[in-house]
Amino acid sequence: MKPRQWTIKELIETTARYFKEKGVESPRLTAELLLSHTLGLDRLTLYLHFDQPLTDSELSRYRTLVGRRVKGEPVQYITGVKEFWSMEFKVDPRVLIPRPETEVLMEKALSILGEMLKAGKERPAVLDLGTGCGAIAVVISKEFPRALVWATDISPDALEVAKMNAHRHGVKERLVFRCGDLWDALDESAPRFDLIVSNPPYVAHEELACLPPEIREHEPTIALDGGRNGLAVIERIIQDAPLHLTKEGWLALEMDPRQCDRALELLEAKGKYKGWEKVKDYQGRFRVLVAQVR
Ligand SMILES: C[S@@+](CC[C@H](N)C(=O)[O-])C[C@H]1O[C@@H](n2cnc3c(N)ncnc32)[C@H](O)[C@@H]1O
Repeated sequence: MKPRQWTIKELIETTARYFKEKGVESPRLTAELLLSHTLGLDRLTLYLHFDQPLTDSELSRYRTLVGRRVKGEPVQYITGVKEFWSMEFKVDPRVLIPRPETEVLMEKALSILGEMLKAGKERPAVLDLGTGCGAIAVVISKEFPRALVWATDISPDALEVAKMNAHRHGVKERLVFRCGDLWDALDESAPRFDLIVSNPPYVAHEELACLPPEIREHEPTIALDGGRNGLAVIERIIQDAPLHLTKEGWLALEMDPRQCDRALELLEAKGKYKGWEKVKDYQGRFRVLVAQVR
């Protein structure tokens, strides 16, 4: 008997039901993303070919991807891409998958740079501390082509991914990549920065074990583990950022909303910052702290 031929529409509907039963988040979208990836088509084209049957080899590849997702692998690592700031970034298990909350940090960083430009600073120096896949540094470099952007990370593997993304978006030659533990990555050629932007690891060490397995077992621990209370790296950044900022330079930090008050106390105690603002995420929780040094 001839094996059954599945059309795109039937497969999406069947897989979405299966994902739902298995508790996979966004079941239909995930089915569509995996099928788009298998067929090398974008999602709109998928819709335009709803009645197209899959070949046996396409079906077999698709089933493998569905199996990986059901076992907990994040869809972005399976497809190898994640959209951030309407741009596509390559991601794999060497880097954290950029989160929507980080677009709040991005928005704030770009607005600070916009103000600098208006004030006549045409070539601001910016540091993306803990760049991961390079999303923040690449967006800044695209939006402010004259900015001098440094992208650093403690993970050489992450920097490899960041370089690929910079290349993909045509800004690799404009970025400076350095590897090291926070400020150790800055050699004598580093300028004082007008803006330091960072989405550091900020999950409390004590809470790592409670993260969903999808995150805990697949994303790099170094990108998540923020030490005791999740504040270890944040504290170090607040402590020493003034040494690396220009006069009246800015620090923009993403954090867990529960950490904002403590981070503010640290800023105030330091005595080097003259103003700060807490910025809410799309859920209305304080997610980003920006501060200006004296
Ligand atoms: C939460 S991820 C953020 C990645 C990326 N900036 C983003 O927003 O998607 C934190 C990044 O900081 C890096 N990191 C962790 N500890 C660090 C340290 N002590 N010095 C420099 N980078 C560090 C990790 O390797 C990881 O890439």
